[in-house]
Amino acid sequence: MKKIKIVETASFVPQKIVTNDDLSQIMDTSDEWIKTRTGIKQRHISIGENTSALCLHVAQKLLEKSGWEADSIDLILVATMSPDSYTPATAALVQGKLNARNALAFDISAACSGFIYGLKVAEKFLQQGSTKRIMLIGGEVLSKVIDWSDRTSAVLFGDGAAGVLLESQVTGDSDFLGASLHTFGEFGDKLEAGKTTAISSFPNLSEHHIKAFSMSGRDVYTFATHRVPESIVQAVKTAGLSLEEIDYFVLHQANSRIVKQIAKKLAQPLAKFPMNIAEYGNTSAASVPLLLDELIAQGKIKRGAKIALSGFGGGLTVGTQVIIY
Ligand code: ACO
Repeated sequence: MKKIKIVETASFVPQKIVTNDDLSQIMDTSDEWIKTRTGIKQRHISIGENTSALCLHVAQKLLEKSGWEADSIDLILVATMSPDSYTPATAALVQGKLNARNALAFDISAACSGFIYGLKVAEKFLQQGSTKRIMLIGGEVLSKVIDWSDRTSAVLFGDGAAGVLLESQVTGDSDFLGASLHTFGEFGDKLEAGKTTAISSFPNLSEHHIKAFSMSGRDVYTFATHRVPESIVQAVKTAGLSLEEIDYFVLHQANSRIVKQIAKKLAQPLAKFPMNIAEYGNTSAASVPLLLDELIAQGKIKRGAKIALSGFGGGLTVGTQVIIY
């Protein structure tokens, strides 16, 4: 087994901040409702920059912070549910702009679990092949896919991107200690974005139709509060640790009530479940690395800390990766 190390983290959010009060000017909602139901106070919204542009900011920061050359990267992964286009992949756009000539690049579609699924894909590449250096970014411009006429979901989401650099080394213990990932495709219709309709008959071509965002909030809430604790318990067990030995549970930031409920179910102190949802809202695949990067920058997560990273969402999907930072 090779040692896999998280070398660097970075994040980027667009400048424009939209507060709950701003939203209450354009839809029937209130700061009070959004704060008490979700913990969200504001979100960042991209004006004119697409997902690949946000990811490129992160990619450039990662290279600056690490001192790595772009052409030393073997693989670029972007986890996103809001890619620039069906093809080319957002990761390929980043690879091209970064001039990372030696990197293979593709996207991972697992919504808010995308970053965790990306870690698993990266681990396999680093363990089995000649791949040595990977850039993994979770990035979203959800403001372009959400239905702004649906107050039940429009208030929840924000735009942003964050990522990590991963490296394999020949000797030493891996930073990746254990994981648990599951997909529940039978519940796929509980959270949909960009659903397309096939033509109904040929050659009588019907108009192409892409549906905006739709979510059954209650069902996703119930799913998260049941499946995420199970996933965390399994991953921590696979890592050979106890819940008490985990320093931080870095969870997908969908709703502060979900995070509190998970902490309660695991019987762990809420202080071990840091949150930044108030500032960013739900940034889907970006949320876990965004929080991780913030905690590292604040000095709260230091080298040697044991962390459970956990995501859940569209698919429906859930995934936890336990790491030593
Ligand atoms: N402002 C004011 N009132 C609202 C709003 C709003 N933005 N949205 C809904 N309401 C109203 C409803 O119409 C309803 O009114 P009624 O009682 O007169 O019918 C009332 O508030 C309660 O609505 P509920 O949907 O029951 O509210 P709930 O407490 O369930 O909270 C929420 C809704 C926040 C969506 C919650 O269910 C949730 O967080 N679910 C999880 C969603 C999630 O995590 N999604 C992301 C997954 S990640 C991914 O893959 C993208």
